[in-house]
Amino acid sequence: MADLSIEFCGIKSPNPFWLASAPPTDKAYNVVRAFEAGWGGVVWKTLGEDPPAVNVSSRYSAIYGKNREVIGFNNIELITDRLLDVNLREITQVKKDWPDRALIVSLMLPCEEAPWAAILPLIEATGADGIELNFGCPHGMPERGMGAAVGQVPDYVEMVTRWCKKHTRLPVIVKLTPNITDVRAPARAALAGGADAVSLINTVNSITHLDLDRMVAFPAVGNASTHGGYCGAAVKPIALNMVAEIARDPATRNLPISGIGGIGNWRDAAEFIALGAGSVQVCTAAMLHGFRIVEEMKDGLSRWMDEKGYRSIADFTRKAVPNTTDWKYLDMNYQVIAQIDQDKCIKCGKCYVACEDTSHQAIAQIVGEKDSRTYEVIRDECVGCNLCEITCPVEGCITMVPQETGKEYMNWTQDPRNPRAEGVR
Ligand SMILES: Cc1cc2nc3c(=O)[nH]c(=O)nc-3n(C[C@H](O)[C@H](O)[C@H](O)COP(=O)(O)O)c2cc1C
Ligand code: SF4
Ligand code: SF4
Repeated sequence: MADLSIEFCGIKSPNPFWLASAPPTDKAYNVVRAFEAGWGGVVWKTLGEDPPAVNVSSRYSAIYGKNREVIGFNNIELITDRLLDVNLREITQVKKDWPDRALIVSLMLPCEEAPWAAILPLIEATGADGIELNFGCPHGMPERGMGAAVGQVPDYVEMVTRWCKKHTRLPVIVKLTPNITDVRAPARAALAGGADAVSLINTVNSITHLDLDRMVAFPAVGNASTHGGYCGAAVKPIALNMVAEIARDPATRNLPISGIGGIGNWRDAAEFIALGAGSVQVCTAAMLHGFRIVEEMKDGLSRWMDEKGYRSIADFTRKAVPNTTDWKYLDMNYQVIAQIDQDKCIKCGKCYVACEDTSHQAIAQIVGEKDSRTYEVIRDECVGCNLCEITCPVEGCITMVPQETGKEYMNWTQDPRNPRAEGVR
C-alpha cells in the first residue's frame, strides 16, 4: 500500500491534502472536524492585526454548468473576522490535540517590520508548524496596502519574507497571487528573501455575472458590487501552469511548492504533484462538498499509486516537469489524425460543423439513403487539432491516433521553415 505521508519544507503531514486558508479553516470547530475526516493539514484562515476585519453581506457568487454544478466560485470576503487572541488560543489547543497533522498559520499585516516582529513570536508560541504569508488576497485588503498589493511587487515580497525569516524559526511559505504578468518574478523574490516554500494560487480577480435588471454585478451588496477572487475548478488550468512555471524555472526549480487552485479530487492532486507540488491545498471543493471529500482523495491517490508502482509521493513528484517545455522545443514532425468509431457515432454532426466552420474542412458528411448521415475523416486534410474530439458528445467515439511518419524529432529552432532556424541536425 502506497505511503501518502509527506515532509514539506520540514513540515510533516500524514498525507499531502491540506485545507487552504479560507472559511473551512476559520476556527477550531471546523479544523477539528476536518482532521477527524482525514485531512493531513490545514492553513488557518488568515490572521491580521486587531481589530478584526468586518465583512459585508452578500459575499459569494458562482458560474454554473448545465446541471447547476459549480464550475467557478467568486468571493469578496476579507481575512479573519475574529479576534487574534481567540484564534491563537484555538490554534494552540488544536495543535496540541492533533500533533501529527500539519498546522500552518496564514498571516497578513501592513508592510512594516514592527507588526511582523510582534506577531511572529505569538504564532511560534502556539506550536504551529509554519507560517504562510498571504500576499494574494485580491479584494478589499489591497486597498489597504496588503494582500495582492504586496504580492504584485517582487521587491515587497522579498522584503517582507526577509523580515519573517529574521523574526521566526518557523518555515515560511509565501502564498502568491495569480494577478500578475509573470508569476516567476514574485517566486524568485520570495526565494531571495529566504522563503522555505511558495504556495499558489490565491484567487483570480473576477466579476462572475450581472443582474441586468438592477445593473449590478454579483455578489450584490445593496445596489453595488466589487470585483472578487475567482477559484474552484475553473482556475485549475491557470494554477497548474503557474506551478509548472515555477517548477521549470532554473532559479526556483528546487523551491518547494504547495499547489492550490481548483483541486477537487485525487486526480487533480496527482496532476499538481506531477507538475511540481509537494503538497496540495483545497478550498472551494471542501466548501461545496464538505470535509469528507478527502476520503475519495486519499483512497483514489493511494489506489492509483499502487497501480503505477509508486511507493511514495516523492516517487512521482515533478515527474511531468521535464515533459513541460517551451513551444519551440515541441516536435514539428509529430502527427496525430482523428479517427471516428462508426459503431459509437450517433450521427449528430457536431464534429463536422466544428471542423467545417472553424478548422480544416477535414470531415466529410456523406448523405445516404433516407437522408441518413455518415461522418468520415479526410485523412490528408486533418491537421490533428483535437477540435472534433473535444466537440464530440460521445466519449471515446473520436480518438486522435499518432501516425508513424518515419521522421526524426525536429523542433522549431531546427525547422527549415523557420527563417531563424539553426539548421536541421
Ligand atoms: C471564501 C474564501 C475565502 C478565502 N479566504 C482566504 C484567506 O483568508 N487567506 C488566503 O490566503 N486565501 C483565502 N482564500 C483563497 C483560498 O485559500 C485558495 O487560494 C483559493 O480559493 C484557490 O483554491 P480553490 O480553487 O481550491 O478554492 C479564500 C477563498 C475563498 C473562496
Ligand atoms: S482533428 Fe481538427 S482538422 Fe482533424 S478532423 Fe478533427 S477538427 Fe478536423
Ligand atoms: S460528433 Fe461524434 S457522435 Fe457526432 S457525428 Fe461526430 S463522431 Fe459522430
